[in-house]
Amino acid sequence: MTRFLIAFTIMALIVSCAEQKKKEEKQMDKPLTSRTWWKEGILYQIYPQSFKDTDGDGFGDFRGVIKNLDYLESLGINMVWMNPFFKSPLVDNGYDVSDYRAIHPRFGTMEDFDAMLAGMHERGIKFVLDVVVNHSSIEHDWFKQSRSSRDNPYRDYYHWWPAEKGEPPYRHSLFDPEGGWDYDEKTNAYYLHTFAEEQPDLNWENPKVRQEVYDLMKFWAEKGVDGFRMDAFQFASKDTTYPEFPEGHEKDFIKWYGLRPQLHGYLNEMYHEVISKYDVFAVAEGAGSTFEDAHKLVDADRDELQMAYHFETVDISRTPEGYTLAEFKEVFTRWDKAFAEEGWIAIFLSNHDNSRMVSRFGNDSPEFRTVSTQMLNTFLLSMRGTPYTYYGDELGMTNMDMPTIEEYVDIDAKGKYQAALSKGEDLDAFMEELNYSSRENGRTPMQWDATENAGFTSGTPWKKVNPNYTEINVAAQEKDPNSVLSHFKKMTKVRKNNPVLVYGNYTLLQPEHEEIYAFTRELDNEKLIILLNFSETESEINLGEAEAVHSDNILINNYDSLNAEASSINLKPYQAVVISLK
Ligand code: NOJ
Repeated sequence: MTRFLIAFTIMALIVSCAEQKKKEEKQMDKPLTSRTWWKEGILYQIYPQSFKDTDGDGFGDFRGVIKNLDYLESLGINMVWMNPFFKSPLVDNGYDVSDYRAIHPRFGTMEDFDAMLAGMHERGIKFVLDVVVNHSSIEHDWFKQSRSSRDNPYRDYYHWWPAEKGEPPYRHSLFDPEGGWDYDEKTNAYYLHTFAEEQPDLNWENPKVRQEVYDLMKFWAEKGVDGFRMDAFQFASKDTTYPEFPEGHEKDFIKWYGLRPQLHGYLNEMYHEVISKYDVFAVAEGAGSTFEDAHKLVDADRDELQMAYHFETVDISRTPEGYTLAEFKEVFTRWDKAFAEEGWIAIFLSNHDNSRMVSRFGNDSPEFRTVSTQMLNTFLLSMRGTPYTYYGDELGMTNMDMPTIEEYVDIDAKGKYQAALSKGEDLDAFMEELNYSSRENGRTPMQWDATENAGFTSGTPWKKVNPNYTEINVAAQEKDPNSVLSHFKKMTKVRKNNPVLVYGNYTLLQPEHEEIYAFTRELDNEKLIILLNFSETESEINLGEAEAVHSDNILINNYDSLNAEASSINLKPYQAVVISLK
């Protein structure tokens, strides 16, 4: 007995020493692991079918990206996130995957992909893959098997509700006005789809499904991709007792449909199975509905995901009435504060699900388009968090006027129109809002030059080119030292040369100022002040002694000069400056 006690005590001691050592290592490790390449990176998002077409079919392809690798490098970006290019019926432009290991021929071949990835890596650019695993396509073999019979081994890869149990409990669908369940005659049952009926939700409660996901992620990690963007993953986990949900929760959708508690366990499992095994990171589309949710997703010590992007910025400006600067400051400041100590977020003002940055947050009139895009890019590249620039925003590409529903090809726009129609809404008002906020605005072909179709394709573009390509294009802006593009390149250099812009503390100055967004970033002995005039008129700001600026220390300015006298500064319309305070 005594011997047993001694052995037990020794064992317990060994275990506790090992645990202590592990803890210490984790602590010591912190300063190192908390500074990483994906925090220091500047990400550029490519919507592949709109970037550059090389075979004349009207759709962008990998060869088009390869052709422009030097352009990407010249921007000073060092990460690319590319929207899905997998085999797909393209009901939702590739967010309906029918084979996660195959390339849709429209984009090229696996050899083209490998060449593109190698070309990026040679230029120091990391690659982020879009992982669409909340749902697959109905054309995926798993779903074909699943719907074929009730006892098929793949049946539990999806969510089924047997019709003999009566109507399934109400579920909202983001794309289908008829709701989230679809009846399938073959097995007399309904399947669940959070998005379109062609996008059935995978059943994450099934460990086999999760293993399939980890396997496909490993397949791409082995190929050398550096990061994963987890599409719509918030909805992945469900309560499979299928409780009744009330209708009318389109606005607080995530609260009802997102982040079931077991999802955190799955993400932790994914971390151990995949993320921890490679030098990769994963970014969450969505950050829950509370800071607590967001922290649970990305705090380093929880070993789940590494970065998240929230929707609050785009939520404040979904209608043509736009947003107020007070709201904008409040959102960014609150999120910065919440993540000051732990976690990491992405900073973005547009992407493929939104209208164009300058049309939404700036001023796209010919008079102010250039300066206001430069101002927004200065903002994006001087905040804490990894900046995400959407293709074309380095040029100031704008929304395109699309006043009638016939001009839309997107499933989201069409679904919303059908819903408005069936509810008897005012269709003129609906179209006005759609024209302003539709994500199709952000999908028009990249504007390379002033030749036909903006140099995007020699064929017929899948989506009409914005007619303003004759003025807004890469070729013209490369020649102009004052262009939006030249400013963007200068600003990426400023960010890279000043780690304070990545890691430094953020402090908002004068929150009540109605035109100017002013803040500082501080790290060790470095302090920068960022002054951004969000209005089309001149505006003055009086900074205190501590923030008195010296014009010799200006790191970037989108005008030739700065009207500053000690701590009183008068900014021109949409003027943006970053100044070192030494
Ligand atoms: C989010 C994607 O960003 C969006 O484009 C897509 O339609 C849905 N998820 C469904 O995958």
